[in-house]
Amino acid sequence: MKPTRMSRMDAASDADRGALEGSATAPDPPAAESGAPVLRLDVRGISKTYGAIKALSEVDFELRPGEIMALLGENGAGKSTLVNVLSGLVVPDTGTIAIDGQLAELSTAHKSQAAGVAVVHQEFSSVRTMSIAENIALDQWGDKHFWTGRQLAAHARPILETVGLGHLDPLTPVERLSVAETQLVEVARAVARDARIVIFDEPTAALAENEIDLILTLIKRLASQGRSIVYVTHRLPEVFKLADRVTVFRNGRSGSPVPVSELDVPRVVSMMLGREATSMFPERGTLRQDDPVLKVNELHRPSR
Ligand SMILES: Nc1ncnc2c1ncn2[C@@H]1O[C@H](COP(=O)(O)OP(=O)(O)OP(=O)(O)O)[C@@H](O)[C@H]1O
Ligand SMILES: [Mg+2]
Repeated sequence: MKPTRMSRMDAASDADRGALEGSATAPDPPAAESGAPVLRLDVRGISKTYGAIKALSEVDFELRPGEIMALLGENGAGKSTLVNVLSGLVVPDTGTIAIDGQLAELSTAHKSQAAGVAVVHQEFSSVRTMSIAENIALDQWGDKHFWTGRQLAAHARPILETVGLGHLDPLTPVERLSVAETQLVEVARAVARDARIVIFDEPTAALAENEIDLILTLIKRLASQGRSIVYVTHRLPEVFKLADRVTVFRNGRSGSPVPVSELDVPRVVSMMLGREATSMFPERGTLRQDDPVLKVNELHRPSR
């Protein structure tokens, strides 16, 4: 069954309850005929070519309910292309996507959102001149556009509580918030939509150390509520703090997911490079003190 408008609305009210109670929002995952739990997300054989560039080649990618999956790879490995496919911004050439055991067609951003996928980008997508509460209502269809400020604030308050922003007035304009608070509002919008799959594409790149911990704690809480998380990052220490499993992309191809408990940093680096990493940094050459680093001979400017 494709997710219908009705089932989304039912799910949203469950989310609001879960947000208030801080409890799990997702029911137990249905079991497949084999007895194994149905995957939350099952991407099979996705390819995407741009001219001569194969951004994705026969990519497989999976997510279990309530799992945090780190998605790693060198620059240009294809991570954002997969994220764009899942968010309906890029239509793949081939391949299938199933969500909770049902084939899903994510060919537009609206279809992706309706299927329960939300993306928290590194670049913020909130409207800065609008209030937090208005931004939270922005993505949702229905009568919320006609709500008063008081109604919008009442709707936003429990959602802000779940992302640790309960102390803020929901009617505060987003432009008055810090970078970390703005990032948390982006997460609040995903929570408000009751996304079953929340994708973070390098969410901590613009944050200070102490702010990063806020986001990591929140991501863990979202996963404990049954949401499945894709976490794209270049920061390996975060992976070991956060992820259950790791999938590495290399040159547009996907590796199999590996539990983080079986990995360490050198192993992850060699999976990303496709060869053993003998050292994190290249050997420094030796330089004698009296060797010149720059020598210029007879430099002159032609006379006019
Ligand atoms: N719209 C596009 N047109 C042409 N080439 C593209 C387009 N989008 C991505 N590519 C190419 O596809 C490949 C994969 O890019 P992608 O952005 O998915 O990598 P990434 O793993 O997210 O890298 P990074 O870590 O730098 O964000 C790269 O070679 C990139 O140049
Ligand atoms: Mg990218």
